[in-house]
Amino acid sequence: MMSHFLDIHTTSRADLRAMIDQARAMKEARRGLPKGTADARTPLAGRMIALIFEKPSTRTRVSFDVGARQMGAETMILSGKEMQLGHGESIADTARVLSRYVDLIMLRTFEEATLLEMAEHATVPVINGLTDASHPCQIMADIVTYEEHRGAVAGRKFVWSGDGNNVCTSWLHAAGRFGFDLTFTGPETLDPNPRAVEFARAQGSRVEIVRDPMAAAAGADAIVTDTWVSMHDPESARERRHNQLRPYQVNGAMMAAARADALFMHCLPAHRNEEATSEVMDGPQSVIFDESENRLHAQKAILRWCLGV
Ligand code: CP
Ligand code: NVA
Repeated sequence: MMSHFLDIHTTSRADLRAMIDQARAMKEARRGLPKGTADARTPLAGRMIALIFEKPSTRTRVSFDVGARQMGAETMILSGKEMQLGHGESIADTARVLSRYVDLIMLRTFEEATLLEMAEHATVPVINGLTDASHPCQIMADIVTYEEHRGAVAGRKFVWSGDGNNVCTSWLHAAGRFGFDLTFTGPETLDPNPRAVEFARAQGSRVEIVRDPMAAAAGADAIVTDTWVSMHDPESARERRHNQLRPYQVNGAMMAAARADALFMHCLPAHRNEEATSEVMDGPQSVIFDESENRLHAQKAILRWCLGV
C-alpha cells in the first residue's frame, strides 16, 4: 500500500508511533557502521527516489539521500529552478510525469498548496520536506531525540519560544498526536497557526500562550526554538522580527527557569546568539546535533511507511 506523508495531524497516532519505534530500532541496528554501509536488510532495493528542492537545504537533502541509499534505493536530487516546474509547467503535470520515472517524491516547497497538488496528482507517495506551513519530518526526528534522552513524550511540557512558524505548527500537530502539552511564548504578531492550536486542544493537549518567556519556561521539560526569519519570510521583515523576538532568545536565564533536566532543541540551521545563545546551543542540555542525526533514522522509517515495506 502506498501512503503520502504530508503532515503529522493527517497521519494516524498508531502509524506515527510505529514509525518512531522503527526509527529507533533501525538506528540501534546499524550502530557503529560507516555511514555508507548498507543496512543488513535493504527494503528499498530497486526503488528510485526523487528529492526536489525549491528552497535551500543541508539536513533534509543529505539525510534523505543517505537514508534512502542505506536501505538500497537510488536517489536523485533535483532543484525546482532547474526543472520545467520553475518555468511554468504545472505541478499536476510534473506529478504525473515524475510518477512514470520514480517510486517516491520528496518535495520541499513554498506554498502548502503546491505540496497538496503534487500529492493529488502523483501516483507514487509524496513526502513533505518542508513548506511555508509545516515541517513534519523534522518533528518526527525530534520525538525520536526527546524519547531517546528522556523517555516517553506523553504528558510532558514543551515550550516553544519565538516565531509561531512552520516548525511550530508541526510541534503543535505532534502535541495532539503524541499527547504532550505545548506552551507558546512569543509576540502576539507571530502567534502560532490557530488551526494547529485548535487541533492540539481537540486531541486533549493543553496549549497555552504566555507572553512572558520566563513564566512560560517554568516547569518545561524541553525548550524549543527556531530561526527568527524563515526562508519564506520577506527580507524586509528582518529588522522588525528581530526587534519583536529579542526578548524570546533562549539563553542561560531561560534554561534556568525550566526544569533542571530540560532539554534544549532547535531544528537548525541556527543563527547563533540570535534565537539562542552559543552557551545554550553548546551546553549540556542541548541535543541539537542528535536532532540532526535523527532526521536520517526517522525519515528511513517514513520512507518505509510510505512504500509499505
Ligand atoms: N532542519 C532542516 O530541515 O534543515 P535543512 O534546511 O538544512 O534541510
Ligand atoms: N522555519 C525555518 C526552518 C528551516 C529548517 C524555515 O522555514 O526557514
